[in-house]
Amino acid sequence: MWTRWIIAAIAVGCLAVGLSAFGQTAAAKEPVEIADLFKTHPKNRFALWIDLINRISKDRKVTIAEIGVWEGAFAVRVLKECPNVEKYYLVDPWRHLADWRKPGNVTNEKFDRIFEETMKKLDFAKDRIEVLRGTTLEVVDQIRDGELDLVYIDGDHTARGIVIDLIKLYPKVKVNGVIGGDDYVNDIFHHGRKRYDPTMVKPVVNGFVAAHSIESFFHNASQFAFFK
Ligand SMILES: C[S@@+](CC[C@H](N)C(=O)[O-])C[C@H]1O[C@@H](n2cnc3c(N)ncnc32)[C@H](O)[C@@H]1O
Repeated sequence: MWTRWIIAAIAVGCLAVGLSAFGQTAAAKEPVEIADLFKTHPKNRFALWIDLINRISKDRKVTIAEIGVWEGAFAVRVLKECPNVEKYYLVDPWRHLADWRKPGNVTNEKFDRIFEETMKKLDFAKDRIEVLRGTTLEVVDQIRDGELDLVYIDGDHTARGIVIDLIKLYPKVKVNGVIGGDDYVNDIFHHGRKRYDPTMVKPVVNGFVAAHSIESFFHNASQFAFFK
């Protein structure tokens, strides 16, 4: 009697494992499509990401986070052209940072103006956005683990910044979700050597995906992406 129940339980377990493996195989088709998109897309990061987001959200609502928003150019385009984005986290301190040696580190007065203008531009999507005004480290825990379908990383591109963003955002993304971003440049000194810190997105992303044995995709408008 008990042996029969044990055999039945093992059979159900095997079926569940088999079905979940099947699910993963089905989802694994997506990276192929994304690889094609990255290889063939015209040189414009907005159009690339809008197409990518519309593909992953074609049959469902999705939640996205953008790390580093500045004047909201990317957010406005995505929120206007991707109807299935139901929640969009905007992560940016919009303040002068004492330890951020990059050209975008303007004064607090300028950041306040940029913030106000950005909020006005995004008013059309006020029911879909959630503003997290702070650095990644300060606000990331307001996003639940596994909540994000996609994160676009475009904040602090120094070594410390991109390391923090990859490590802190990775758990926030669903399995099979997309992690991508901007400034995957060859020339780490593209802002000059004297006044600014090097842009370390490319070497750090390369190390991160190698450590996790993840396939990654690159687009010639300095964009990167990989699946969790
Ligand atoms: C290149 S801009 C973002 C451009 C925007 N993603 C777009 O495509 O229009 C970089 C932004 O990153 C923000 N930033 C800098 N350090 C940050 C940090 N530690 N965490 C989050 N955002 C940061 C800056 O305030 C700035 O607004």
